[in-house]
Amino acid sequence: MKRDSFGSKLGIIAAAAGSAIGLGNIWKFPYIVGENGGAAFILVYLVFIALIGIPLMTSEFVIGRRAKKNAIGSFKELAPNTPWWLAGVTGVLAAFIILSFYLVVAGWVFAYVAKAITGKLITIAPENLGSYFDGLTTSVGEPIFWSFVVMALTAFIVVAGIQKGIEKYSKILMPVLLVLLVVLMGRSLTLEGASKGLEFLFKPDFSQLKMKGVLEALGHAFFSLSLGMGTMITYGSYIGKKQNLSQIALQVSIADTLIALMAGVVIFPAVFAFGFEPEVGPALIFITLPAVFQVMPFGAIFETLFFILIGIATITSTISILEVIVAYFTEEFNIGRKKATIVLSTILFMFSIPNSLSMGKWSGFTIFGKTIFGVSDFVSSNILLPLGGLCVALFIGWAMKPKDIKDELTNEGTIEVKSFNWYLIANKIVAPVGITLVLLSGLGLLDKIMELIG
Ligand code: TRP
Repeated sequence: MKRDSFGSKLGIIAAAAGSAIGLGNIWKFPYIVGENGGAAFILVYLVFIALIGIPLMTSEFVIGRRAKKNAIGSFKELAPNTPWWLAGVTGVLAAFIILSFYLVVAGWVFAYVAKAITGKLITIAPENLGSYFDGLTTSVGEPIFWSFVVMALTAFIVVAGIQKGIEKYSKILMPVLLVLLVVLMGRSLTLEGASKGLEFLFKPDFSQLKMKGVLEALGHAFFSLSLGMGTMITYGSYIGKKQNLSQIALQVSIADTLIALMAGVVIFPAVFAFGFEPEVGPALIFITLPAVFQVMPFGAIFETLFFILIGIATITSTISILEVIVAYFTEEFNIGRKKATIVLSTILFMFSIPNSLSMGKWSGFTIFGKTIFGVSDFVSSNILLPLGGLCVALFIGWAMKPKDIKDELTNEGTIEVKSFNWYLIANKIVAPVGITLVLLSGLGLLDKIMELIG
């Protein structure tokens, strides 16, 4: 059977940017910017995107398109009879774990979409929004129901395949997302007192930046660009031989970064204009923003648009995570796409249930002081993604022949590629050193080493 592939360059960009742009941009990026003091943190984040993120996304595309296989199969194809395939295994494992807790937050988003559309959310008194959100996350049936809805929508798209599913829906959803963001930006920027929010975002104050923030910025660069999990290897395997891989990686990374900044421009001017605090953490979009929308003219409409926007961004990301797993099982075990998608989605949904319950009923059950949700987040973001990214960088930097890499990037010498030498150094040295630091700090080992050095 002919392998499915993307049909057009626009489709590739929509799908890959759709994967990258997600809860990471609109939920997590604004709140970690808020926690880490604003512009200085953003600056460091941009440096990591440029120095490590873009080369690594290029590398995942190179591996995927060269091998034309799934995340594990690609390593087996390019380096047969070596243990490199284990790099793909961490990816597929991370996909399971990430989706199982991503579905939980995605479920809250969809619950809020419903509450915003029915007009319920806007009627809740600002001082009660905190307990309202806690009520949702700690209950049993409601969040699990919404996680199920997200899983079902995701499976519906993935079943249809690459061109007729993922590409088709990304091409519709991503422009809608962009329009919604621009409308919301217009609203936020025309509020009286918006400039304080812009200053927070764009005027760096380095005294606000801590070492913890620097490392968080690197970890988030991975998460936001969908790196270290084989997502871009898998998507890369569907990219045609005529496409310019380094250019696509650059465009997707810029799109992802711009959307995160735009989300910041939607959120912070509004937060500052109405005198709210930026550093409230994960509750920023679920508690602070609904309070902001209540005092904003036409708030109910903008609130509904905002949650629909996050809902869209979420779905184009969940499909990319599911596709990593589905591609592996369909190719390596010869299972049909429909059967694989349904069975795997059911398993993933079941995995999400303990993650959801650990916010409430099961919150007393902890491993190393973390809830199940906390462990899933920690193990995947702080260990598996950096490990996966490290393997990709080392594979390109030290295991693959530079000539093969160059052939892939220049489409066998038919197009020109700039800064090839810098690209190799980024993979050989810059990324591995950077990632090793994040890994050590994620495991709390960096503090210990620092102590030893004194
Ligand atoms: N990048 C997405 C976001 O920002 C989430 C995501 C999709 C992801 N695929 C991934 C994260 C692969 C890590 C690895 O929300």
